Amino acid sequence: MSQGIKVNSRVLEMEYAVRGPIPHRAVEMAAQGRRIIPCNIGNPQALGQQPISFYRQVLSLLEDPGAITRERKFRGDGIADALPEDVIDIAAAMLDGSRTGSGAYTESAGFKFIREAVAGFIDSRDGIASGRPTASDPDSILLTDGASGGAVYVLEALISCPQDGILVPIPQYPLYSATITRCGGVLVGYHPDEEAGWALGRENLEQPLKAAAADGVEVKAIVVINPGNPTGALLDRQSMHEVVDVAREWGLAIIADEVYQENTYGQEWCSFASIIGDEPIPLFSLHSVSKGFYGECGHRGGYMEVRHAPSVVGTNLDLRDIFVKQASVNLCPNTMGQFLVHLMVTGPREGSETHRVFLEQKARVLDDLQAKASMIRGYFDQMDGVECFGRTGAMYLFPRLGRLPEGKTDFDYCMALLEQTGLVTVNGAGLGQAPGTHHLRIAFLPPFELIEEVMPEWVRFHNGFG
Ligand SMILES: Cc1ncc(COP(=O)(O)O)c(C=O)c1O
Repeated sequence: MSQGIKVNSRVLEMEYAVRGPIPHRAVEMAAQGRRIIPCNIGNPQALGQQPISFYRQVLSLLEDPGAITRERKFRGDGIADALPEDVIDIAAAMLDGSRTGSGAYTESAGFKFIREAVAGFIDSRDGIASGRPTASDPDSILLTDGASGGAVYVLEALISCPQDGILVPIPQYPLYSATITRCGGVLVGYHPDEEAGWALGRENLEQPLKAAAADGVEVKAIVVINPGNPTGALLDRQSMHEVVDVAREWGLAIIADEVYQENTYGQEWCSFASIIGDEPIPLFSLHSVSKGFYGECGHRGGYMEVRHAPSVVGTNLDLRDIFVKQASVNLCPNTMGQFLVHLMVTGPREGSETHRVFLEQKARVLDDLQAKASMIRGYFDQMDGVECFGRTGAMYLFPRLGRLPEGKTDFDYCMALLEQTGLVTVNGAGLGQAPGTHHLRIAFLPPFELIEEVMPEWVRFHNGFG
């Protein structure tokens, strides 16, 4: 008989609602042949979003370099479905840049030529001429296995004792709560103002900082997710300036989770790097190939840019050196994810047919996401007491469910919604919410037909829930 084994209590305590009991039940239901609509996670291709052709064409050549010569020959022979010339040229240039291709370990921080491309992307996105003091530095960029990798490096490095705290928005994406638990730190929650579209005022940020200080907690950093997950909300500039002011006054680093920077649906987005400028506030900004219109979650590509890295007490290192050391323990980020980051920050050559198709596919994905979000929001109007605040961003809606019947929680609601409709959502308590409120998060990713089919069922479920 197995004797059982004692495991790290922090790993036991760690919670991750996005993949918790509700999706587990969904797996059982799917095994029984029941319809399941997995809206618990921002996983676009799992719900039918098609990959961008350009990315996959280049990746196919990078995995099979022999195909570069073959495809060139096909083009020379006039074979109609040979890959476009610019795709072949881009793949060949990337292979040259990498020197070792996809099968070898790379530098721990990732291929240098890709970090250079990321730096160029950041400068052009933020309107910074290269050579300026605020220009991005390829040596301050780490390529990571998704944005998650970067967030974990920062939290692991910053949490040095049980009194170290991280200021995290409530509700939040549970990577942060789970990692803080695992690292043995304190999650200090701040509450954006839901009814003001999840905006931030000074009081929202300072009140929890004062309470934490009174409890002997030293807050090291603030996490800002913009656009938000689960709220979808896009921060206005005033809220961003409040964050920067508070970071300056309280000596906090900023962890800017900017993975949804493309999911803004016509609204203006701006990076924390451009708000901070040359002020010496430590900034760790995260981006990823998982979201936007790319939706390449499974490829696990991302980067973290470090600005104004503090020096590390008792050493002659700065925090950037520590991150590279952490990365070196994992040897290197996966190479196809790195290549995808390169494609995300460069794209096809302007003016080519490849570029035309790319722009068309990009627009289709983003327009569809926006239309799906407004379709789902429209159904909320038919649900008694449901309200959904803030403009639409990211891939999520986070409606407030209003009063639930006595003794029922939003977990009960989401479980029952799953049983009745097959819709897999995340209950608000799993992501954090103001006391006394009940929410759920739904990713607005299913195909239109499925939304049209399931939303009336949800309306009936909601209005009869008891
Ligand atoms: C806010 C936020 N940050 C980070 C991640 C992790 O993304 P990645 O797949 O790049 O690790 C997600 C994934 O949903 C997210 O929503």
